[in-house]
Amino acid sequence: MMKFSRTAALGLLLASSLATAQTPYTDDSTYRGLGGKEGIKKIVDTFVPMLLADPRIKESFADFDMVQLNVRLQEQFCEFAGGPCKYTGKYRDKTMDGVGTVRDMATVHQDLKITNAMFNALAEDLQIAMEQNNVPSSVSNKLIAKLAPMQRAIVTTTVAQTKPDLGKFLATGGVSQVEGAGGGGITPWALISGYGTRDSWSANAHYTYIDTQDYKLNSYGVAVGIADRLEISLAKQEFKGSLAPLNLLNIKQDILGLKLKVAGDAVYEQDNWMPQVAIGVLYKRNKGIGGLGALGVTNVTQLGAKDDHGYDYYVAATKILFEQSLLLNGTLRATRANQMGILGFGGDKGDSQRLMPEVSAAYLVNRKLAVGAEYRRKPHNLGVDNEKAYYDAFVAWFPSKNFSVTAAYAELGDITIFNPKKQHGLYLSLQAGF
Ligand code: HEM
Repeated sequence: MMKFSRTAALGLLLASSLATAQTPYTDDSTYRGLGGKEGIKKIVDTFVPMLLADPRIKESFADFDMVQLNVRLQEQFCEFAGGPCKYTGKYRDKTMDGVGTVRDMATVHQDLKITNAMFNALAEDLQIAMEQNNVPSSVSNKLIAKLAPMQRAIVTTTVAQTKPDLGKFLATGGVSQVEGAGGGGITPWALISGYGTRDSWSANAHYTYIDTQDYKLNSYGVAVGIADRLEISLAKQEFKGSLAPLNLLNIKQDILGLKLKVAGDAVYEQDNWMPQVAIGVLYKRNKGIGGLGALGVTNVTQLGAKDDHGYDYYVAATKILFEQSLLLNGTLRATRANQMGILGFGGDKGDSQRLMPEVSAAYLVNRKLAVGAEYRRKPHNLGVDNEKAYYDAFVAWFPSKNFSVTAAYAELGDITIFNPKKQHGLYLSLQAGF
Protein backbone atom coordinates (compact mmCIF):
# COMPACT_ATOMS: atom_id res chain seq x y z
CA MET A 1 0.00 0.00 0.00
CA MET A 2 2.78 2.33 1.08
CA LYS A 3 4.67 1.43 -2.07
CA PHE A 4 1.64 2.14 -4.22
CA SER A 5 1.01 5.58 -2.71
CA ARG A 6 4.63 6.58 -3.23
CA THR A 7 4.44 5.50 -6.87
CA ALA A 8 1.13 7.31 -7.27
CA ALA A 9 2.57 10.47 -5.70
CA LEU A 10 5.55 10.29 -8.03
CA GLY A 11 3.22 9.83 -10.99
CA LEU A 12 1.16 12.83 -9.95
CA LEU A 13 4.28 14.93 -9.50
CA LEU A 14 5.48 13.92 -12.96
CA ALA A 15 2.08 14.59 -14.51
CA SER A 16 1.80 17.99 -12.87
CA SER A 17 5.29 19.00 -13.91
CA LEU A 18 4.63 17.83 -17.47
CA ALA A 19 1.44 19.87 -17.55
CA THR A 20 3.10 23.09 -16.40
CA ALA A 21 2.41 25.75 -19.01
CA GLN A 22 5.08 28.22 -20.02
CA THR A 23 4.91 31.39 -18.01
CA PRO A 24 6.74 34.62 -18.90
CA TYR A 25 10.08 35.39 -17.26
CA THR A 26 9.57 37.26 -14.03
CA ASP A 27 12.67 39.44 -14.51
CA ASP A 28 13.25 41.58 -17.58
CA SER A 29 16.82 40.55 -18.43
CA THR A 30 15.73 38.62 -21.54
CA TYR A 31 13.56 41.56 -22.62
CA ARG A 32 16.53 43.91 -22.20
CA GLY A 33 18.80 41.41 -23.97
CA LEU A 34 16.46 41.46 -26.95
CA GLY A 35 16.84 45.23 -27.04
CA GLY A 36 13.55 46.16 -25.36
CA LYS A 37 10.45 47.04 -27.41
CA GLU A 38 12.54 48.62 -30.15
CA GLY A 39 14.82 45.59 -30.43
CA ILE A 40 11.87 43.18 -30.50
CA LYS A 41 10.22 45.24 -33.26
CA LYS A 42 13.42 45.02 -35.32
CA ILE A 43 13.60 41.25 -34.78
CA VAL A 44 9.98 40.69 -35.80
CA ASP A 45 10.40 43.02 -38.79
CA THR A 46 13.28 40.77 -39.90
CA PHE A 47 11.43 37.56 -38.95
CA VAL A 48 8.07 38.03 -40.72
CA PRO A 49 9.53 38.58 -44.23
CA MET A 50 11.70 35.48 -43.60
CA LEU A 51 8.55 33.42 -42.94
CA LEU A 52 7.02 34.66 -46.18
CA ALA A 53 10.16 33.76 -48.11
CA ASP A 54 10.81 30.37 -46.49
CA PRO A 55 9.73 27.64 -48.94
CA ARG A 56 9.21 25.23 -46.03
CA ILE A 57 6.38 27.29 -44.52
CA LYS A 58 5.46 30.32 -46.62
CA GLU A 59 2.26 28.78 -47.94
CA SER A 60 0.80 28.62 -44.43
CA PHE A 61 0.79 32.42 -44.21
CA ALA A 62 -0.71 33.11 -47.65
CA ASP A 63 -4.23 33.98 -46.45
CA PHE A 64 -3.44 35.90 -43.29
CA ASP A 65 -2.91 39.47 -42.22
CA MET A 66 0.83 39.75 -41.75
CA VAL A 67 0.66 43.25 -40.31
CA GLN A 68 -1.51 41.95 -37.51
CA LEU A 69 0.67 38.88 -37.01
CA ASN A 70 3.71 41.16 -36.75
CA VAL A 71 2.10 43.18 -33.95
CA ARG A 72 0.90 40.08 -32.09
CA LEU A 73 4.31 38.44 -32.27
CA GLN A 74 5.95 41.57 -30.88
CA GLU A 75 3.52 41.55 -27.98
CA GLN A 76 3.95 37.86 -27.34
CA PHE A 77 7.77 37.88 -27.46
CA CYS A 78 7.87 41.00 -25.26
CA GLU A 79 5.56 39.46 -22.67
CA PHE A 80 7.37 36.10 -22.57
CA ALA A 81 10.73 37.87 -22.31
CA GLY A 82 9.54 39.56 -19.11
CA GLY A 83 8.88 42.96 -20.75
CA PRO A 84 6.09 45.43 -19.93
CA CYS A 85 3.66 44.18 -22.60
CA LYS A 86 0.38 42.31 -22.74
CA TYR A 87 -0.49 40.01 -25.58
CA THR A 88 -3.79 41.31 -26.95
CA GLY A 89 -4.42 38.85 -29.76
CA LYS A 90 -6.62 35.87 -30.19
CA TYR A 91 -4.42 33.90 -27.84
CA ARG A 92 -5.56 34.04 -24.25
CA ASP A 93 -4.18 31.73 -21.68
CA LYS A 94 -5.02 31.78 -18.04
CA THR A 95 -1.36 31.44 -17.12
CA MET A 96 -0.67 34.73 -18.88
CA ASP A 97 -3.53 37.07 -18.07
CA GLY A 98 -5.78 35.24 -15.66
CA VAL A 99 -8.76 35.71 -17.99
CA GLY A 100 -9.06 32.12 -19.10
CA THR A 101 -8.82 30.56 -22.49
CA VAL A 102 -10.60 32.37 -25.30
CA ARG A 103 -8.54 31.22 -28.21
CA ASP A 104 -5.29 29.59 -27.25
CA MET A 105 -2.26 28.74 -29.39
CA ALA A 106 -3.74 25.33 -30.19
CA THR A 107 -6.96 26.90 -31.50
CA VAL A 108 -5.15 29.61 -33.46
CA HIS A 109 -3.06 27.02 -35.30
CA GLN A 110 -5.40 24.03 -35.39
CA ASP A 111 -6.48 24.31 -39.03
CA LEU A 112 -3.01 24.99 -40.36
CA LYS A 113 -1.81 21.37 -40.48
CA ILE A 114 1.54 22.19 -38.91
CA THR A 115 4.19 19.47 -38.75
CA ASN A 116 7.27 19.25 -36.54
CA ALA A 117 9.48 20.25 -39.48
CA MET A 118 7.35 23.37 -40.08
CA PHE A 119 7.43 24.30 -36.40
CA ASN A 120 11.21 23.91 -36.33
CA ALA A 121 11.58 25.89 -39.56
CA LEU A 122 9.76 28.82 -38.00
CA ALA A 123 11.82 28.63 -34.82
CA GLU A 124 15.00 28.43 -36.89
CA ASP A 125 13.97 31.56 -38.84
CA LEU A 126 13.42 33.31 -35.52
CA GLN A 127 16.88 32.27 -34.33
CA ILE A 128 18.41 33.66 -37.53
CA ALA A 129 16.36 36.87 -37.24
CA MET A 130 17.73 37.34 -33.71
CA GLU A 131 21.26 36.57 -34.91
CA GLN A 132 20.92 39.18 -37.67
CA ASN A 133 19.89 41.71 -35.05
CA ASN A 134 22.95 40.91 -32.94
CA VAL A 135 21.08 39.30 -30.06
CA PRO A 136 23.54 37.23 -28.02
CA SER A 137 22.87 33.52 -28.35
CA SER A 138 22.44 33.14 -24.57
CA VAL A 139 19.49 35.58 -24.82
CA SER A 140 17.94 34.19 -28.00
CA ASN A 141 18.06 30.70 -26.45
CA LYS A 142 16.04 32.08 -23.52
CA LEU A 143 13.24 33.13 -25.85
CA ILE A 144 13.43 29.77 -27.67
CA ALA A 145 13.09 28.06 -24.25
CA LYS A 146 9.72 29.77 -23.81
CA LEU A 147 8.46 29.01 -27.33
CA ALA A 148 9.66 25.41 -27.79
CA PRO A 149 7.00 23.82 -25.52
CA MET A 150 4.30 25.37 -27.75
CA GLN A 151 5.12 22.52 -30.11
CA ARG A 152 2.68 20.39 -28.12
CA ALA A 153 -0.16 22.81 -28.89
CA ILE A 154 0.82 23.93 -32.38
CA VAL A 155 1.97 20.74 -34.11
CA THR A 156 -1.09 18.72 -34.99
CA THR A 157 -0.05 16.93 -38.13
CA THR A 158 2.20 14.10 -39.14
CA VAL A 159 2.89 13.60 -42.82
CA ALA A 160 5.04 10.57 -43.56
CA GLN A 161 7.75 11.58 -46.02
CA THR A 162 9.76 9.27 -48.20
CA LYS A 163 12.49 11.90 -48.54
CA PRO A 164 14.71 13.11 -45.67
CA ASP A 165 13.24 16.39 -44.35
CA LEU A 166 16.28 17.74 -42.46
CA GLY A 167 13.59 19.11 -40.16
CA LYS A 168 15.22 18.96 -36.73
CA PHE A 169 17.05 21.90 -35.16
CA LEU A 170 20.69 22.26 -36.02
CA ALA A 171 22.98 20.18 -33.75
CA THR A 172 20.10 18.21 -32.20
CA GLY A 173 21.21 14.97 -33.86
CA GLY A 174 24.48 15.16 -31.94
CA VAL A 175 27.67 14.06 -33.68
CA SER A 176 28.93 10.53 -34.40
CA GLN A 177 30.48 8.99 -31.34
CA VAL A 178 33.50 6.77 -31.76
CA GLU A 179 31.41 3.57 -31.79
CA GLY A 180 29.12 4.99 -34.49
CA ALA A 181 26.05 5.97 -32.45
CA GLY A 182 24.66 9.50 -32.36
CA GLY A 183 26.02 11.32 -29.34
CA GLY A 184 29.11 13.14 -28.21
CA GLY A 185 32.61 11.98 -29.14
CA ILE A 186 32.91 9.04 -26.75
CA THR A 187 29.39 8.62 -25.35
CA PRO A 188 26.10 7.66 -27.00
CA TRP A 189 23.35 10.18 -26.25
CA ALA A 190 19.58 9.75 -26.29
CA LEU A 191 19.39 11.93 -29.43
CA ILE A 192 18.64 10.07 -32.65
CA SER A 193 21.40 10.66 -35.19
CA GLY A 194 20.70 13.08 -38.04
CA TYR A 195 17.99 15.59 -38.84
CA GLY A 196 14.92 13.55 -39.79
CA THR A 197 11.81 14.48 -37.79
CA ARG A 198 9.22 11.97 -36.66
CA ASP A 199 7.75 12.18 -40.19
CA SER A 200 10.95 11.34 -42.00
CA TRP A 201 14.40 9.83 -41.82
CA SER A 202 18.02 10.75 -42.36
CA ALA A 203 21.38 9.14 -42.96
CA ASN A 204 24.95 10.19 -42.35
CA ALA A 205 28.48 8.94 -42.59
CA HIS A 206 31.37 9.72 -40.28
CA TYR A 207 35.10 9.50 -40.16
CA THR A 208 36.92 9.88 -36.84
CA TYR A 209 40.62 9.98 -36.21
CA ILE A 210 42.34 9.85 -32.82
CA ASP A 211 46.08 10.27 -32.52
CA THR A 212 47.86 9.67 -29.22
CA GLN A 213 51.59 9.25 -28.48
CA ASP A 214 51.71 5.56 -29.31
CA TYR A 215 48.44 4.72 -31.02
CA LYS A 216 46.02 5.83 -33.68
CA LEU A 217 42.37 4.96 -33.94
CA ASN A 218 40.31 5.36 -37.09
CA SER A 219 36.59 4.90 -37.01
CA TYR A 220 34.27 5.23 -39.95
CA GLY A 221 30.69 4.25 -40.48
CA VAL A 222 27.11 5.14 -41.28
CA ALA A 223 24.00 5.82 -39.22
CA VAL A 224 20.36 6.03 -40.17
CA GLY A 225 17.75 7.77 -38.04
CA ILE A 226 14.16 6.70 -38.65
CA ALA A 227 11.20 8.82 -37.52
CA ASP A 228 13.40 10.46 -34.89
CA ARG A 229 12.84 7.29 -32.88
CA LEU A 230 15.06 4.48 -34.14
CA GLU A 231 18.74 4.69 -34.97
CA ILE A 232 20.75 2.01 -36.75
CA SER A 233 24.50 2.45 -36.96
CA LEU A 234 27.43 0.55 -38.33
CA ALA A 235 31.02 1.46 -37.52
CA LYS A 236 34.41 0.01 -38.29
CA GLN A 237 37.28 0.75 -35.96
CA GLU A 238 40.92 0.29 -36.76
CA PHE A 239 43.43 0.63 -33.96
CA LYS A 240 47.11 0.95 -34.86
CA GLY A 241 50.37 1.16 -32.98
CA SER A 242 52.73 3.87 -34.12
CA LEU A 243 55.79 3.25 -31.94
CA ALA A 244 58.12 0.23 -31.78
CA PRO A 245 57.69 -2.53 -30.75
CA LEU A 246 54.03 -2.00 -31.69
CA ASN A 247 54.46 -0.04 -34.90
CA LEU A 248 52.91 -2.85 -36.94
CA LEU A 249 50.09 -3.52 -34.46
CA ASN A 250 46.67 -3.41 -36.06
CA ILE A 251 43.37 -4.38 -34.43
CA LYS A 252 40.04 -4.14 -36.19
CA GLN A 253 36.54 -4.15 -34.79
CA ASP A 254 33.03 -3.91 -36.31
CA ILE A 255 30.16 -2.43 -34.32
CA LEU A 256 26.47 -2.65 -35.11
CA GLY A 257 24.29 -0.31 -33.05
CA LEU A 258 20.57 -0.01 -32.42
CA LYS A 259 19.01 2.79 -30.40
CA LEU A 260 15.38 3.44 -29.57
CA LYS A 261 14.00 6.67 -28.16
CA VAL A 262 11.58 5.60 -25.45
CA ALA A 263 10.47 8.80 -23.70
CA GLY A 264 10.66 12.58 -23.61
CA ASP A 265 11.96 15.07 -26.10
CA ALA A 266 15.25 16.90 -25.62
CA VAL A 267 14.07 20.02 -27.47
CA TYR A 268 10.38 20.66 -26.81
CA GLU A 269 10.12 19.87 -23.12
CA GLN A 270 11.69 23.10 -21.89
CA ASP A 271 9.00 23.60 -19.26
CA ASN A 272 9.72 20.44 -17.27
CA TRP A 273 12.66 18.34 -16.21
CA MET A 274 11.87 15.27 -18.33
CA PRO A 275 14.87 14.43 -20.54
CA GLN A 276 14.81 12.50 -23.78
CA VAL A 277 15.49 8.87 -22.89
CA ALA A 278 16.76 6.15 -25.21
CA ILE A 279 17.90 2.59 -24.83
CA GLY A 280 20.55 1.08 -27.05
CA VAL A 281 22.66 -1.92 -27.82
CA LEU A 282 26.05 -2.14 -29.52
CA TYR A 283 27.08 -5.51 -30.90
CA LYS A 284 30.85 -5.59 -31.28
CA ARG A 285 32.97 -8.11 -33.11
CA ASN A 286 36.71 -7.90 -32.80
CA LYS A 287 38.29 -8.95 -36.12
CA GLY A 288 41.65 -9.98 -34.73
CA ILE A 289 45.16 -8.66 -34.26
CA GLY A 290 47.67 -8.01 -37.01
CA GLY A 291 51.35 -7.13 -36.71
CA LEU A 292 52.15 -9.32 -33.70
CA GLY A 293 52.65 -12.47 -35.76
CA ALA A 294 56.25 -12.75 -34.56
CA LEU A 295 54.88 -13.20 -31.03
CA GLY A 296 52.25 -15.63 -32.29
CA VAL A 297 49.43 -13.27 -31.20
CA THR A 298 46.58 -12.99 -33.66
CA ASN A 299 43.49 -12.88 -31.46
CA VAL A 300 42.49 -10.79 -28.44
CA THR A 301 41.80 -13.96 -26.48
CA GLN A 302 45.58 -14.54 -26.49
CA LEU A 303 45.98 -11.29 -24.53
CA GLY A 304 43.68 -12.63 -21.83
CA ALA A 305 40.26 -11.57 -23.14
CA LYS A 306 37.54 -14.18 -22.69
CA ASP A 307 35.82 -13.37 -25.98
CA ASP A 308 36.33 -11.57 -29.25
CA HIS A 309 32.75 -10.36 -29.39
CA GLY A 310 30.25 -8.88 -26.99
CA TYR A 311 27.30 -6.60 -26.39
CA ASP A 312 27.11 -3.21 -24.70
CA TYR A 313 23.64 -2.25 -23.45
CA TYR A 314 22.92 1.31 -22.45
CA VAL A 315 20.28 3.75 -21.36
CA ALA A 316 20.90 7.43 -22.10
CA ALA A 317 19.12 10.57 -20.96
CA THR A 318 19.71 13.86 -22.78
CA LYS A 319 18.32 17.25 -21.86
CA ILE A 320 18.81 20.49 -23.75
CA LEU A 321 18.33 23.45 -21.41
CA PHE A 322 17.86 26.38 -23.79
CA GLU A 323 17.42 28.78 -20.90
CA GLN A 324 20.96 27.98 -19.76
CA SER A 325 22.29 27.21 -23.30
CA LEU A 326 23.33 23.79 -22.03
CA LEU A 327 23.10 20.21 -23.19
CA LEU A 328 23.47 17.56 -20.51
CA ASN A 329 23.70 13.82 -20.99
CA GLY A 330 24.01 10.86 -18.68
CA THR A 331 24.49 7.33 -20.01
CA LEU A 332 24.64 4.11 -18.06
CA ARG A 333 26.26 1.27 -19.95
CA ALA A 334 26.42 -2.42 -19.11
CA THR A 335 29.60 -3.72 -20.71
CA ARG A 336 32.39 -6.24 -20.52
CA ALA A 337 34.39 -4.59 -23.30
CA ASN A 338 38.10 -3.90 -22.83
CA GLN A 339 39.07 -0.58 -24.43
CA MET A 340 35.66 -0.47 -26.14
CA GLY A 341 36.24 -4.06 -27.37
CA ILE A 342 39.52 -3.34 -29.16
CA LEU A 343 41.15 -5.60 -26.55
CA GLY A 344 38.22 -8.01 -26.50
CA PHE A 345 35.62 -8.75 -23.86
CA GLY A 346 36.05 -9.94 -20.28
CA GLY A 347 39.35 -11.10 -18.85
CA ASP A 348 41.29 -12.55 -15.96
CA LYS A 349 40.14 -9.77 -13.61
CA GLY A 350 36.44 -9.80 -14.48
CA ASP A 351 34.06 -11.24 -17.00
CA SER A 352 30.58 -9.97 -16.14
CA GLN A 353 28.56 -7.10 -17.63
CA ARG A 354 29.37 -4.16 -15.40
CA LEU A 355 27.48 -0.90 -15.15
CA MET A 356 29.59 2.10 -16.13
CA PRO A 357 28.49 5.76 -15.98
CA GLU A 358 29.22 8.24 -18.75
CA VAL A 359 28.46 11.95 -18.63
CA SER A 360 28.64 14.81 -21.11
CA ALA A 361 27.98 18.51 -20.80
CA ALA A 362 28.06 21.03 -23.61
CA TYR A 363 27.60 24.78 -23.74
CA LEU A 364 25.76 25.99 -26.83
CA VAL A 365 27.94 28.95 -27.81
CA ASN A 366 25.66 29.76 -30.70
CA ARG A 367 23.35 27.95 -33.14
CA LYS A 368 26.34 26.39 -34.91
CA LEU A 369 28.91 25.89 -32.17
CA ALA A 370 29.04 23.85 -28.98
CA VAL A 371 31.91 23.28 -26.56
CA GLY A 372 31.89 20.62 -23.91
CA ALA A 373 33.49 17.82 -21.99
CA GLU A 374 32.83 14.12 -21.51
CA TYR A 375 33.76 11.40 -19.10
CA ARG A 376 33.37 7.67 -19.64
CA ARG A 377 34.19 5.06 -17.05
CA LYS A 378 35.26 1.64 -18.23
CA PRO A 379 35.73 -1.75 -16.60
CA HIS A 380 39.19 -3.09 -15.82
CA ASN A 381 39.01 -6.75 -16.85
CA LEU A 382 42.47 -7.43 -18.25
CA GLY A 383 45.59 -7.94 -16.14
CA VAL A 384 47.83 -6.82 -19.03
CA ASP A 385 45.97 -3.54 -19.48
CA ASN A 386 45.66 -0.98 -16.72
CA GLU A 387 42.42 0.31 -18.20
CA LYS A 388 41.26 3.74 -17.06
CA ALA A 389 38.42 6.14 -17.84
CA TYR A 390 38.26 8.20 -21.04
CA TYR A 391 37.85 11.99 -20.96
CA ASP A 392 37.61 14.58 -23.65
CA ALA A 393 37.06 18.29 -24.12
CA PHE A 394 35.49 19.12 -27.46
CA VAL A 395 34.41 21.83 -29.87
CA ALA A 396 31.67 20.83 -32.31
CA TRP A 397 30.90 23.04 -35.30
CA PHE A 398 27.74 22.61 -37.34
CA PRO A 399 28.06 24.85 -40.43
CA SER A 400 24.96 23.17 -41.88
CA LYS A 401 22.69 20.19 -41.35
CA ASN A 402 24.72 18.32 -43.95
CA PHE A 403 28.08 18.60 -42.30
CA SER A 404 29.72 18.86 -38.88
CA VAL A 405 33.26 18.85 -37.53
CA THR A 406 34.25 17.90 -34.00
CA ALA A 407 37.72 18.52 -32.65
CA ALA A 408 38.69 17.37 -29.19
CA TYR A 409 41.50 16.79 -26.82
CA ALA A 410 41.04 13.19 -25.70
CA GLU A 411 42.57 11.50 -22.68
CA LEU A 412 42.36 7.73 -23.16
CA GLY A 413 44.13 6.54 -20.02
CA ASP A 414 46.74 3.77 -20.16
CA ILE A 415 46.35 1.56 -23.20
CA THR A 416 48.97 -0.70 -21.83
CA ILE A 417 49.97 -3.59 -24.10
CA PHE A 418 53.72 -2.84 -23.90
CA ASN A 419 53.57 0.96 -23.80
CA PRO A 420 52.42 1.74 -20.25
CA LYS A 421 51.99 5.44 -20.78
CA LYS A 422 49.00 7.71 -20.56
CA GLN A 423 47.58 8.16 -24.00
CA HIS A 424 46.23 11.57 -24.88
CA GLY A 425 45.98 13.58 -28.02
CA LEU A 426 43.91 14.95 -30.84
CA TYR A 427 40.46 13.70 -31.76
CA LEU A 428 38.98 14.83 -35.05
CA SER A 429 35.65 13.73 -36.45
CA LEU A 430 33.76 14.65 -39.60
CA GLN A 431 30.14 13.85 -40.24
CA ALA A 432 28.26 14.35 -43.51
CA GLY A 433 24.63 13.49 -44.05
CA PHE A 434 21.22 14.29 -45.47
C1 HEM B 1 6.84 28.77 -31.64
C2 HEM B 1 6.08 28.74 -32.69
C3 HEM B 1 4.95 29.73 -32.96
C4 HEM B 1 4.56 30.82 -32.28
C5 HEM B 1 5.14 31.39 -31.02
C6 HEM B 1 3.45 31.39 -32.99
C7 HEM B 1 2.76 32.54 -32.61
C8 HEM B 1 1.66 33.04 -33.25
C9 HEM B 1 0.89 34.16 -32.82
C10 HEM B 1 1.20 34.98 -31.58
C11 HEM B 1 -0.09 34.35 -33.68
C12 HEM B 1 -1.13 35.46 -33.67
C13 HEM B 1 -2.45 35.00 -33.24
C14 HEM B 1 -3.32 36.22 -33.10
O1 HEM B 1 -3.71 36.79 -34.10
O2 HEM B 1 -3.56 36.61 -31.96
C15 HEM B 1 0.04 33.33 -34.69
C16 HEM B 1 -0.78 33.20 -35.76
C17 HEM B 1 -0.48 32.44 -36.86
N1 HEM B 1 0.52 31.51 -36.93
FE1 HEM B 1 1.78 31.03 -35.49
N2 HEM B 1 3.20 30.63 -34.09
C18 HEM B 1 4.09 29.61 -34.11
C19 HEM B 1 4.19 28.63 -35.06
C20 HEM B 1 3.59 28.70 -36.28
C21 HEM B 1 3.88 27.86 -37.38
C22 HEM B 1 4.95 26.74 -37.37
C23 HEM B 1 3.09 28.26 -38.42
C24 HEM B 1 3.04 27.71 -39.82
C25 HEM B 1 4.05 27.22 -40.45
C26 HEM B 1 2.28 29.34 -37.93
C27 HEM B 1 1.34 30.02 -38.69
C28 HEM B 1 0.51 30.99 -38.19
C29 HEM B 1 -0.54 31.61 -38.97
C30 HEM B 1 -0.86 31.34 -40.41
C31 HEM B 1 -1.17 32.53 -38.12
C32 HEM B 1 -2.36 33.40 -38.41
C33 HEM B 1 -3.58 32.70 -37.88
C34 HEM B 1 -4.79 33.59 -37.75
O3 HEM B 1 -4.68 34.81 -37.88
O4 HEM B 1 -5.88 33.03 -37.52
N3 HEM B 1 2.60 29.59 -36.65
N4 HEM B 1 1.11 32.55 -34.40
